[in-house]
Amino acid sequence: MTEIPVIPAPLEAERRPGEPFVIGPGLRIVAGPEPDAVSTAILVAGRVGEAVGTPVAVVEEDDGSAGVIVLRLTADRTDVGLPADVDPRLADEAYRLEVSTERVVVTALAGAGLFRGVITLQQSSRPSGGGLYEVPPVHVVDHPRFSWRGLSVDLARHFFDLEQLRSVVDLMASYKLNVLHLHLTDDQGWRLEIPSRPELTAVSGTTAVGGDPGGWLTGQDYAAIVTHAASRFITVVPEIDIPGHVNAALHAYGELTPSGEPTREYTGTDVGFSRLHVDLPGTAPFLRDVLGDVAAMTPGAHVHIGGDEVLTMDAEEYRRLVHLAMAEVDAAGKVVVGWQEVATALVPDGAPADAAAPVVVQYWDEREGADDVTRAALAGADVLLSPASKVYLDMRYDASTPLGLDWAGHIEVRDSYEWEPLDVLPGVPRERVVGVEAAVWTETIRTSDDLFFLLLPRLAAVAEVAWSAPGRRGWESFAARVPAHVPRWETAGLVWYRSPQIDW
Ligand code: ACM
Repeated sequence: MTEIPVIPAPLEAERRPGEPFVIGPGLRIVAGPEPDAVSTAILVAGRVGEAVGTPVAVVEEDDGSAGVIVLRLTADRTDVGLPADVDPRLADEAYRLEVSTERVVVTALAGAGLFRGVITLQQSSRPSGGGLYEVPPVHVVDHPRFSWRGLSVDLARHFFDLEQLRSVVDLMASYKLNVLHLHLTDDQGWRLEIPSRPELTAVSGTTAVGGDPGGWLTGQDYAAIVTHAASRFITVVPEIDIPGHVNAALHAYGELTPSGEPTREYTGTDVGFSRLHVDLPGTAPFLRDVLGDVAAMTPGAHVHIGGDEVLTMDAEEYRRLVHLAMAEVDAAGKVVVGWQEVATALVPDGAPADAAAPVVVQYWDEREGADDVTRAALAGADVLLSPASKVYLDMRYDASTPLGLDWAGHIEVRDSYEWEPLDVLPGVPRERVVGVEAAVWTETIRTSDDLFFLLLPRLAAVAEVAWSAPGRRGWESFAARVPAHVPRWETAGLVWYRSPQIDW
C-alpha cells in the first residue's frame, strides 16, 4: 500500500485494507456541541460542499450511520494516542484520524486538533470522477514536534492586502502552520493603522520600495485577518520594528528626530541607517502609544519588537530602547518577541538576563555568533529558529531564479528541508526551542504570484521540519509526496516553482 501524500508527515499513519470512504452528495458532518468543534465542522462543510457541488449538513447527533465525518472532542489524552510526557503546549493540536469504508472519525482534545486532522483527511483524499472524492481507509495518530510553526511576511517593503493575506493564511493552514508573523513597519512604509498615531499610515502608508504603490491594513482589516487566521487555529504576531528600521515613523513624526523635522521617505533597500533616540522627549510616548495600541488590537499572546540591524547606535542606548519597548509590551500583558539582536540587550556583558518576564528570541543571522542567544536561552529565554540559509524564502532557488535575494545563499527545496532544528544552536537547551519560522522579505516581491512562487514548495518543506518527528522525515519521501499537492495549489490559483530536484 502506498503512503498517503500528507505533508507534514504524520507521526503514525497506517493504511488499512478495505474500500475507500466516498465524499459526495449526502455526506454529513457530525460535531458539537462545543463551539470549536462546530466552527471547524462548518468550515469543513463549506469546503466539501463546494468541492462536491451540494450543501453538506452539520448535525449534532451521531446515530451511527454511514457516510458521516465525525469531529469528536475528548478530554482523554489516550484517545488521541498522546504519551503522558508530551509537552502540554502540543496537546491541543494532537488528533487521531480513523477512516473506514463507512465513516471518518477525527478525535482531538481541542478544536485545533480537529482542524489539523481535517487537513490530513483533505490531503488523503483524491478525486474519483463524477465530482466525488475518495479516501483510502487509514489510521493516523499525530501531533506536532514544535509548538511554534510560523511564517513571517514583510508587508513593509511591498504591501500585501487583506485578500492576499487570506490566501497566505489558507496556504499556511494547509501545512498545519500556526503563527502568522506580520512585519508591519520598516524604513519604506508603515502598514497598520494605529488609532493614537494616525499620521503613521496617513503619511507613511503610501510609500514602498522602488516607488511602488503602498497601502496599509485598517484596524478592521487587521481584525479580519486575525479572525480568518484564528478560525484556522493560526495566531497573528504583529511586529513593530524598533529601534532601527524606523524611517517610516520618522517620516511621519518629526518629534522622533533630533532636528524635529521629519525625514524624507525612503524607497531604497539599504538597512541599518534609521534609528530612534532614547533621549528625545517624543520617543517613550511614541513607543507607549504604538505598542499599547498594537497589543490592544491583538488577541494573541505575543508582540514582536524587531530589534534587528541597528548599525548606528551604541550598545547602551540600544539596550535602553529595547527595554523601554519590552516594558510597554509587558505592561500591555503580552510576551515580547525580538530578533536575535535583542539578546544583547537581555544579557549585558554576560550577566544573567532578567528572567522575570518571558521573552522569545528569534535567531536568523548565521553570519553572527550566537553566544548572546545561547546565554539568553540559558537564562530562560525561549528561542525561535529562522536560520536564513534554510528558511529565508525570499532567497533565490538558484542563480537563474528571476526574483529574490541571495545574501544568505541560494536555497533549493532540499536545502529548506534537510536540516535539524536542534542542531542549529547546540548550546541552547532543547526545551527552550519553541519552534521554527520561515520568513519572506519583500524587497523584490511585488505580487501574489511573486510571493507564492517563492513559498511553494519550500513552505511545505519547512512545515514538515517544524511539525514532523525526526524519524518520520526523509527527503526521498517528501519529494515523492509533494507532486500530489500541485492540483490543490493550482485550484487555489497559486504559482509554484518547478524544482528540478522533484519528479513532478
Ligand atoms: C532580518 O532579517 N533583518 C531579521
